[in-house]
Amino acid sequence: MQEQAIAWRQAGDAIGFVPTMGALHAGHDSLVARARRENQRVIVSIFVNPAQFGPNEDFEAYPRPFEVDYARLDALGADAIFHPPVEQIYPPAFKTHVDPGPLAEVLEGKSRPGHFAGVLTVVLKLFNLTQPKRAYFGQKDFQQVILVRQLVRDLGLPIRIVACPTVREPDGLALSSRNAYLDPAQRAAAPAISRALDAAALSFGKGQAHPAEHESTARSALEKIPGSTIEYVAVVDPTTLRTPARAIAGSVLAVAVKLGSTRLIDNVVLGAERL
Ligand code: PAJ
Repeated sequence: MQEQAIAWRQAGDAIGFVPTMGALHAGHDSLVARARRENQRVIVSIFVNPAQFGPNEDFEAYPRPFEVDYARLDALGADAIFHPPVEQIYPPAFKTHVDPGPLAEVLEGKSRPGHFAGVLTVVLKLFNLTQPKRAYFGQKDFQQVILVRQLVRDLGLPIRIVACPTVREPDGLALSSRNAYLDPAQRAAAPAISRALDAAALSFGKGQAHPAEHESTARSALEKIPGSTIEYVAVVDPTTLRTPARAIAGSVLAVAVKLGSTRLIDNVVLGAERL
């Protein structure tokens, strides 16, 4: 993969890279389509990264429909699909890990210790193997975008991180490979998550600037979902991930909710289209 990528770079082609764990849906497609528009070459990786899953998470159960994914990426015009075996990314002698620092300890990082160290370690390795000029990430995983941007800035990587809007079902549910785990009743209740975010964004638009008000509006909507457990509901500044005294345009309302054993996340940027 790295030899091919270097050859493309030497020929003067800009490479757009889309890292994924497969089980592709229209959210992933939107990243690939954007990469296709903006670069001469597009590389998509499919790698279910064991380092970012906790011991009690769904690494084994994570869907791996490789043939279907391959056909989908072929139709979208990807130039290369990088699908390495685990031992190639993490051979037995592998020892080096990226430490993402304090922003990895809040929100998702608090619920999933070690998750972002696993994400940044594999993302840095994949960047080195695919030599991108631009890399495409979804806003749905907003803390991941913030931490990948921090990685690029702190370590001086010559890569532009492009954040792409969250793609949703017609009823508002953010597309996620994990939506497949929902039973019909949970699936029917799940759009309440995006409605809760919309309600808060609407009240921000009408002048409500108190983070605690937005959090309690969203929380009370989420509590009404049968069988739900709220992990966090927080208005945060996208650079510090701390809750500001007042919400401003660009503040992010982020939530994580479990429906039964399926954990879903979503967020909205208040008063702005995107990160
Ligand atoms: P994965 O969950 O497969 O997501 C791959 C990319 O698709 C991420 O950038 C994610 O934010 C984006 N994405 C997921 N759902 C989306 C949606 N509904 N709309 C827009 N974009 C969406 O995120 C990962 O994999 C991994 O952590 C990875 C970066 C590949 C590192 O292992």
